[in-house]
Amino acid sequence: MTFKKLVPWCVVIGFVIGLVAACTDKPTNQTEKRIEALLKQMTLEEKVGQLNQINDVGGLPEDLKAQLASGEIGSFLNVIDPELIIEMQRIAVEESRLGIPLIFARDVIHGYKTIFPIPLGQAASWNRDLVELGARISAEEASAIGIRWTFSPMIDISRDARWGRIAESFGEDTYLNTELGVAMIRGYQTDDLTDPTAMAACAKHFVGYGASESGKDYNTTWIPEVQMRDVYLPPFQAAAEAGAATFMCSFNDINGVPSTGNKHLNINILRNEWGYDGVLVSDWGSAENMIPHGFAHDLKDAARIAANAGMDVDMMSYAYPQHLADLVREGKVSEKTVDNAVRNILRLKFRLGLFENPYIELPTENPFYTERALEAARQSVVESTILLKNEGVLPLTNVKSVAVVGPMSDAGLDQMGTWSLGADPNFSITPLAAIRSEYPNITVNAARGLEYSRVKDMKEVGKAVEAARKSDVVLFFAGEEAILSGEAKCLANISLQGAQTEMLKALKATGKPIVMVVIAGRPITMGPEIEMVDAVLYAFHPGSMTGPGIADLIFGKAIPSAKLPVTMPKMVGQLPIYYNHKNTGRPANNITYMDDIPYGAEQFSIGSTSYHLDAGDKPLYPFGYGLSYTTFEYSPVTLSSNILKDNETITVSCDITNTVKYKSDTVAHLITRALRG
Ligand code: GLC
Repeated sequence: MTFKKLVPWCVVIGFVIGLVAACTDKPTNQTEKRIEALLKQMTLEEKVGQLNQINDVGGLPEDLKAQLASGEIGSFLNVIDPELIIEMQRIAVEESRLGIPLIFARDVIHGYKTIFPIPLGQAASWNRDLVELGARISAEEASAIGIRWTFSPMIDISRDARWGRIAESFGEDTYLNTELGVAMIRGYQTDDLTDPTAMAACAKHFVGYGASESGKDYNTTWIPEVQMRDVYLPPFQAAAEAGAATFMCSFNDINGVPSTGNKHLNINILRNEWGYDGVLVSDWGSAENMIPHGFAHDLKDAARIAANAGMDVDMMSYAYPQHLADLVREGKVSEKTVDNAVRNILRLKFRLGLFENPYIELPTENPFYTERALEAARQSVVESTILLKNEGVLPLTNVKSVAVVGPMSDAGLDQMGTWSLGADPNFSITPLAAIRSEYPNITVNAARGLEYSRVKDMKEVGKAVEAARKSDVVLFFAGEEAILSGEAKCLANISLQGAQTEMLKALKATGKPIVMVVIAGRPITMGPEIEMVDAVLYAFHPGSMTGPGIADLIFGKAIPSAKLPVTMPKMVGQLPIYYNHKNTGRPANNITYMDDIPYGAEQFSIGSTSYHLDAGDKPLYPFGYGLSYTTFEYSPVTLSSNILKDNETITVSCDITNTVKYKSDTVAHLITRALRG
């Protein structure tokens, strides 16, 4: 078809697109018209009520009923009794003056009842579709009881394993956090937020929370603008462009300004640069936290600062319900500012279809743990568990007996990790349970040895050693309890807790082959322990289907394909450590380790480059590392051009050959670096 013939078609197509756009614009305009019509009717107190989010109070006392009837509350978090949700919604819709529906929110971070691997684990799958599926299933389970807003995905770049919340992120890489954050948003929201199984996503924590100094939670961050835009903002911009319905402020301050009161972030970038029209909710009490931050004099001042910095919804500071109306009347916050915040929360409620369908249908059958959910969770465990070492031991194909030992061998609650609120450990299948049920022909000699990961007392370890002696292979499940991972769970020492190392030494003394399976919420420094064993599988708190998924890998029903989403340090002193570190002016080379330095050496005789004398400059395992039961050969890489001009692309080609008998996936990493000219 020549250009000429194309023109009429372009005109027709353009016209049709324009018409469709006008039609589809109509519902959007229709929504904006409904928002304006409602806003005009609202009193200042009713507007403030919409900006007030409170936690479950454990029931529906008379004073709360009165608050709902007077429109003093706009949304709840952690109310999970469907009948209570229905009754609260009925009061808001049928007894309040304007009948504005409530939204019910929850931290559905990696599953509601069916628990998937923690996000750091899901990141190891590098599988957008699997992450999206997990989010979709989580939304179906949570929305069944009335939750329509989840405080997920957490897309904070995390480069420091001392920080407990590394568990909730997709690791250290901006691109991986971007891609998997968007996948989760798609899974939660679908392309129609009015779908009753859809949940509003929440891109959090905006922004830079993972840069908390020394890996201590809630701590200060210093992030230069160029690093903010290169490293920390891109996942959030992608989330905004992907239509994330809400954002959440972070607890940290950035260069002295708390996120909750940060006009540059919340207005200049989020609203003005990105044109974001969703809801910005505070973190729990983060408006009030500006007082100890030294940024607000008192709660009223905190309300003023937060409102004028663009925070829409106040989660659990009570700053807005107590002071915002007065601040407007005193002229310290304009009513226009309040109106904009109310528009955002009303828009969210319209987008969720809550004005048309405020009530849920009580589920007639169990919406949890469906076969589809459990299979997806199992696959997620398989694709999230990293094979770090294998000296000819795995997969186990002809063993007659195994010792299943260690504190994480039968820990249904702990294997679900952080933010597994309300998950039922009775529906969390452990490695011991899975091996017993799925491999009846293998004799299982079980003894935890240590009840949980922090136990220092070795008195029970003898039973585990006895089990090892009686078995062909030892399966040692080590790691970290769930309570040591997540928010406010930061560690200065990230080696194996308790007597796990001593237990391993005792197992090693039996001379049996040992497969160590680590189940934790962060990278753990365990170089010496890895030296002691024949194979290592590393799983970041894999959730309800830990046992079946890991058993699939151990016995060869599945092939490991996961790759580290975060660098594993040799020792805690290397932190923060990440793959895309700048070169510095003296990149590490001709490394001399401390013990190799001759006594009395000349001051500058061992070179002057960037590394630690007692660790060198390499991690234990690098970002992107992960083995398989097969190997892959990469042909030399070819480029379509050696020069990349503006707005051009270069095609990178490489043949990847699976060299052994196992059918397996792998992830090829292409890492580029811009040299700033
Ligand atoms: C917590 C977390 C945040 C969570 C919120 C509601 O403190 O920082 O991620 O969504 O409070 O539970």
